[in-house]
Amino acid sequence: MTDAQRQENVRNTELLNAELPDERFVDESYLHWLYDENPLGPGFQESVDEDGVRVAHYALIPQVYRSPDGPEPFIFSLNAVSRSGAQRKGYFGMLQLRVWSRARDAGVVAGIGVTNARSHRGVEIMGWRMVGQMPVQIVLPSPVRPKGWQSWPVQDNFVDSPTFKELSVGLDDGPVEHWTHSWTPEYLRWRLASPNGARFAVHASDELFAVSTASAFRGVPVAVIVKLLVRGAAAGPVSGHAAVSEACRFHRAPAAVYAGFNKFVSIKGVPAPERLKPAPLNLEFCSLTDRIRQDEFILDTFEFLDMDAY
Ligand SMILES: CC(C)(COP(=O)(O)OP(=O)(O)OC[C@H]1O[C@@H](n2cnc3c(N)ncnc32)[C@H](O)[C@@H]1OP(=O)(O)O)[C@@H](O)C(=O)NCCC(=O)NCCS
Repeated sequence: MTDAQRQENVRNTELLNAELPDERFVDESYLHWLYDENPLGPGFQESVDEDGVRVAHYALIPQVYRSPDGPEPFIFSLNAVSRSGAQRKGYFGMLQLRVWSRARDAGVVAGIGVTNARSHRGVEIMGWRMVGQMPVQIVLPSPVRPKGWQSWPVQDNFVDSPTFKELSVGLDDGPVEHWTHSWTPEYLRWRLASPNGARFAVHASDELFAVSTASAFRGVPVAVIVKLLVRGAAAGPVSGHAAVSEACRFHRAPAAVYAGFNKFVSIKGVPAPERLKPAPLNLEFCSLTDRIRQDEFILDTFEFLDMDAY
C-alpha cells in the first residue's frame, strides 16, 4: 500500500465513521482490506473534498456472478456517504455518474446494491431496479445437536489452514438456474478475513458449508446465518435447519436470524417483525449491458455475506 492510498483510506474512514458510526470504521484497516486486498482487484472509488475536508465518498467493489452461461464481472455498490452539512448538494449523484462510467469502461456488466430509504431515492435516479426487500426470518434450532456437523471459529490462521482449504474446494461448482455470487476458495478466504467487525464461524457437514456470526438483540444472543453453500452435487434444495441448530449451539444462542433467500438451501422460520429491522434492506440491480436485461434479472440466492453486512 502506498502512502497516498493509506491517506485516502484514513480520510474516507473518518467520514464514514462520522456519518455511519460502526466498529468497522475504528481505523483504516477495514477499508484497506475492502479496497486494497480484494483478490478481484481494487474496484472504483470516488470522493469530494471541500476546503481540504473530505465531504463525500462512494465505492464499487468487484464481485463475480455466474449464470448457466458462465461468470461475469459485477460490482457491489457500498459506502455511499455525504457529510452532514454537505448533503443535498448533488455530491452523491455526481459520484455515482463518475464511478459508474469508470466501471462500465472497465467492462463491468452489472451492479448490485442494498440501499436504505435515503440512498434508494438516490440510486433510482441512476435507473436501478429494486429487486425486492431482503426477507429477514427468525429461526429456532432443534434441541438436540445435529449429527455429522463440525464448527470452527474464523480466527488466527484458520483461513490458511488445510481444513479450510479442504472445506472451501468445490463450493462454487454447483449448478445454477439464474444468477448467483461466485464463492471461489480465494474469494471466500478474503471475505472471511474482514477486520474490525464480525467474528465469523464456519460450520460444515457433508452436505452444507455455513458461515455465521454472533449478535445480540436486547441482550439476548442470536446466531446470524450469513451464508449457506451446498457441498457436493446435492439433488434439489438441502434443508438448512441443521446448520441453524449447529450455529445456535456454537454461539450459545436460543435463536438464529437469517436474511435473504437461497434456491439451493431451504430455511423455514418466522418473518422478523418490521420494527426489529435496522433498515429496509432494499436489494437493487443495475445492468450496464444489453446482454443482461434489467427487468429479467433473477438471483438464485442472496445473503448477508454477499453484501457488506458484517
Ligand atoms: C444518502 C446520501 C449518501 C445522499 O447523499 P447526497 O450527497 O446528499 O445526495 P444528493 O445531494 O446527490 O441527493 C440528495 C437529494 O438532494 C437533492 N439535491 C441535489 N442537489 C440539489 C440542489 N442543488 N438543491 C436542492 N436539492 C438538491 C437530490 O435531488 C436528492 O433529492 P431526494 O432525496 O429528494 O431524491 C446521504 O444522505 C448520506 O450520506 N446519508 C447518510 C449515510 C447513508 O445513509 N448512506 C447510504 C447507505 S446505503
